[in-house]
Amino acid sequence: MSKASCFIRKATREDAAFICRLIWRVGINPLGLNWRRFVVAVHEHGVRIGCAQIKSHKDGSLELASVAVVPLYRHQGVAETMIHEILEEQNPPIYLTCRGSLVSFYERFGFSELFELETLPAYFRKVKRVFNWLEKLNWVERLAVMVWKGK
Ligand SMILES: CC(C)(COP(=O)(O)OP(=O)(O)OC[C@H]1O[C@@H](n2cnc3c(N)ncnc32)[C@H](O)[C@@H]1OP(=O)(O)O)[C@@H](O)C(=O)NCCC(=O)NCCS
Repeated sequence: MSKASCFIRKATREDAAFICRLIWRVGINPLGLNWRRFVVAVHEHGVRIGCAQIKSHKDGSLELASVAVVPLYRHQGVAETMIHEILEEQNPPIYLTCRGSLVSFYERFGFSELFELETLPAYFRKVKRVFNWLEKLNWVERLAVMVWKGK
């Protein structure tokens, strides 16, 4: 599929409802959706087609989160464009959590998976511990914690 022609901009208050709707629609973590931390992807026709944010946690760590693209516009490089633009503006390390099946997708941007619980910032250690239990019960797909350490 060819690349979608889109641009990325910082979200405004008017994007808050779009962000919430999209996150609920795609079924990822609906907590912490403050529009001030988001970027949105806008198609050349003016319609919003994706969003992503950088969350900061109490332990000082930063997380690439809420990466979501409207289904009709997937596989056209929209998430890739958002992630590249976000990382351009950030200082490493940037962490993320994702389903095991998405690890290779994030490796393309230079993220690598972390396996040692002790090396994770407190927030990610906690999340990983909870998911390890849920995984043992076969309630969830494996959760990966990844880090980007810069170019
Ligand atoms: C994951 C997601 C953001 C990708 O958006 P996108 O704009 O289609 O991504 P890009 O076009 O930049 O890259 C597409 C690549 O992502 C990977 N990918 C996308 N969805 C995937 C999935 N469910 N499982 C594994 N890999 C996936 C593939 O490598 C794909 O390559 P392909 O187009 O050659 O098949 C989008 O599918 C989405 O919104 N999913 C629901 C929300 C979600 O799971 N977000 C990630 C939270 S960690």
